[in-house]
Amino acid sequence: MSELIKDLDILFEDKKTEEACGIQVSKEENTGKNRKLYIESYGCQMNFSDSEIVSSIMKDNGFDTTSDFNNADVIFLNTCSIREKAELTVRKRLTDFQKAKSNKPGLQIGVLGCMAERLKTKLLEEEKLVDLVAGPDAYRDLPNLVKTVDDGEKAVNTFLSREETYADISPVRLNSNGISALISIMRGCDNMCSFCVVPFTRGRERSRDPHSIVKEAQDLYDKGYREVTLLGQNVDSYKWSEVLNNKAQLEKIERKEEVDIVNFANLLEMVAKVSPDLRVRFSTSHPKDITDEVLYTIKKYDNICNYIHLPAQSGNSRILKMMNRTYTREWYINRVDAIRNILGEECGISSDMISGFCSETEEEHKDTLTLMDYVKFDFSYMFYYSERPGTLAEKKYEDDIPLETKKRRLQEIIDKQRFYSLERNQLDLNKVHEVLVEGFSKRSEEHLQGRNSANKVVIFPKENFKKGDYVNVLVEECTGATLLGKAIDKK
Ligand code: SAH
Ligand code: SF4
Ligand code: F3S
Repeated sequence: MSELIKDLDILFEDKKTEEACGIQVSKEENTGKNRKLYIESYGCQMNFSDSEIVSSIMKDNGFDTTSDFNNADVIFLNTCSIREKAELTVRKRLTDFQKAKSNKPGLQIGVLGCMAERLKTKLLEEEKLVDLVAGPDAYRDLPNLVKTVDDGEKAVNTFLSREETYADISPVRLNSNGISALISIMRGCDNMCSFCVVPFTRGRERSRDPHSIVKEAQDLYDKGYREVTLLGQNVDSYKWSEVLNNKAQLEKIERKEEVDIVNFANLLEMVAKVSPDLRVRFSTSHPKDITDEVLYTIKKYDNICNYIHLPAQSGNSRILKMMNRTYTREWYINRVDAIRNILGEECGISSDMISGFCSETEEEHKDTLTLMDYVKFDFSYMFYYSERPGTLAEKKYEDDIPLETKKRRLQEIIDKQRFYSLERNQLDLNKVHEVLVEGFSKRSEEHLQGRNSANKVVIFPKENFKKGDYVNVLVEECTGATLLGKAIDKK
């Protein structure tokens, strides 16, 4: 086994599930604007994408971004509420800014995102340090809110909108390698899974104009990007029609004729057509909504990646019912079978799992493990249940599984996932994979790193290849997290 692969193994061991989503920090930018914004983001990719929208709005209002909060005039924390731990991390981070503020009295500190929306003005009372609170639909108002703070007052806007999609804003790419970018295609969520705080923090589901999405993908391609990830909490329920702003369509409805509706399969196709050299990914697919039409669209276009993030949450139908996921174990298995039948064994499938949901018995937990045996997920984000204030589960059910049981069950889920991640990666050995190069490997500048269609990280000696190339790589070694090989040729 090579030294590099041993290093990578350690990397995988180090990866704690709670850190699954990571942190994003703004980059240093100097375009001569007179004030500096530092923005740090927690939570999901939607939040990372939102921070790019926020940076764009702030840029148009006299701010450059900085990567060092000590140089900032304004600090924004874009926050997550999904589990208690996510909120505690943000609280702790706020104390780090205390000192910066005492050194620089004019420094403004704002809390954005899901925690801002959940706590609203309470956040100003609880965290005296905070000057500004803005929810996910209030970002156009940020320049006004900053002005209010400039004038010596605290500022809050947590209004949730039914229309806002920030469709016309072209995001400042914050964390980008110049090759892959995030595109939000919808906002909010209407699903009401009983454990989940997102419908309360992000409001009603709404889809963004497909033409603005295609335009953004085209602009990215023209700038040298080679991969876009279409983002939504439930991309399969994407639905858009001209109805709201087109008189002809309204008249059609009055005449009870069919109107032109763009669904997710249609949107995927529209984005895939931007260029065969632009990879298209998407996240998240909800098992209740993913259709065969979407799967056939993935099959039809080589540049739509063969990878589906399909969170199961549990493998037991009674628990799924209590979670209000609106599918059963059998339904989930049927969708996995459809993926395997239409797209083949190589299609990557990943999941999110929650251990120790209210009243979960040992037998029901075992159903989650046997579902994992059936599907053999390539990867999973795994959590123990964390009760969130205001959710349906908090109101209806008792959070009655002891913490040590939740953690033990979680460990069993993690162990099983480790086993299958390795097994699935071993199936990739001695095969040639098309890899889009994203940059140097994290451990060595002699190696390049990219992903194959199934979203697996592939590392190989750099030779004369470079970022943005599509390279055919023969995979020779693997860990549970990474494939390692050598380049054969370029596309
Ligand atoms: N829209 C996505 C999920 C977004 S939240 C979907 O429906 O699949 C990301 C993940 O966090 C969820 O899939 C779930 O596994 C986890 N999660 C959400 N609320 C949680 C809670 N209260 N406790 C533990 N994990 C939670
Ligand atoms: Fe939360 Fe369910 Fe919506 Fe996902 S689909 S964001 S888990 S309510
Ligand atoms: Fe967290 Fe909000 Fe995303 S709660 S997971 S940042 S939608």
